[in-house]
Amino acid sequence: MPERDSVTAEDSDSDTFGQTDSSNGEIEFLNELSKSEVIRNHLNLINGEIEKFLGTGSGEPKILYETAAYLLRAGGKRLRSLLVVLSCEAVGGNANKSIPFAIATEFAQTASLIHDDVIDEDPLRRGVQSTHEKFGQKMAILAGDLLIAQAIRMIGKHATPEILLEVADGGIRMCEGEAADMLMQADNPDVMTKDSYLNMIEKKTVSFIRTATNMGASVGGGTPLQCGALKDYGENLGYAFQIRDDILNIISSKEITGKSVHSDLLSQRCSYALVHALDACSEDQRIKCLKLLSQGDTAYALELIHKTNAIPHAIELAREYVSKAKKSLVGHNFSNEALLMMIADFVLQRLH
Ligand code: IPE
Ligand code: IPE
Ligand code: MG
Repeated sequence: MPERDSVTAEDSDSDTFGQTDSSNGEIEFLNELSKSEVIRNHLNLINGEIEKFLGTGSGEPKILYETAAYLLRAGGKRLRSLLVVLSCEAVGGNANKSIPFAIATEFAQTASLIHDDVIDEDPLRRGVQSTHEKFGQKMAILAGDLLIAQAIRMIGKHATPEILLEVADGGIRMCEGEAADMLMQADNPDVMTKDSYLNMIEKKTVSFIRTATNMGASVGGGTPLQCGALKDYGENLGYAFQIRDDILNIISSKEITGKSVHSDLLSQRCSYALVHALDACSEDQRIKCLKLLSQGDTAYALELIHKTNAIPHAIELAREYVSKAKKSLVGHNFSNEALLMMIADFVLQRLH
């Protein structure tokens, strides 16, 4: 970690601001991922099962079910559900066995995003109006609750008590992480540190992705060693995923991500790039930056992020996590090791 005050904003004349990270090569790479027949088939299976459930699982009042289905149908990468299926297959399990767990995962993911958008007052998600924007806050909250209850029902039908506990613990950690995120604001400067940030994302994002890979491996009948390796893979992937997400919030556009950008800084939220900049600048700069952020002014924070090379540092950290994720896979004879490696590269290079 850089020493405080070791690099001041004025010291740096670098002009790298992350743009080097989005090249045509990467766009081609993403196309490569969707060219994988196995991944395409799994995504079709997941989407088909979600649609089947939505077609038959409706109740009253209709508007509640319509609200819950809205964001599920708007798309999303289906990364966590895909990881459930791939982790099951990695240890020799049959993909079909993991499907209820994968669908439940996607329901929980969508619920978390519906609630997250209420918390963050975000108007855009998956390229469409966020659920509360379209249906109102009260119905959105209930729709998220409904999706969580349906997810528990799906998992409860098939899971061992151990898996159920693991899922519940993941959910508890996510709530803790969301609350920690909410409290990490520029007007609470003591918590704007790298350690607090990593701790917060471990709860908010990492735990869910780790649960997905671990659950898939358990459902597939993996040995404790195999489950442990896939859990490590999910954990490291989770860190890289959220760091990348925060980078995109600064350097990308809403057209590409399908959600608001610059919203983290505008709402004074913590990101790796911001805490890096705050660590690398002088004490006066830190105070000035936090004060301006708490007044809704993001220009100085962006300048510090730029001048302290915070985006390249964040990319490097995400790369380290991806590299650890890939290492976790080695030596376990996972049948789809190459695909899991490819997903890890996707997490590092994704543009949306
Ligand atoms: C968004 O997750 C929430 C984060 C943890 C950053 P995704 O980027 O996987 O969202 P969808 O499911 O593809 O919409
Ligand atoms: C991640 O929160 C979402 C959850 C863990 C539920 P963020 O606020 O960082 O994610 P985005 O940017 O809204 O997708
Ligand atoms: Mg959000």
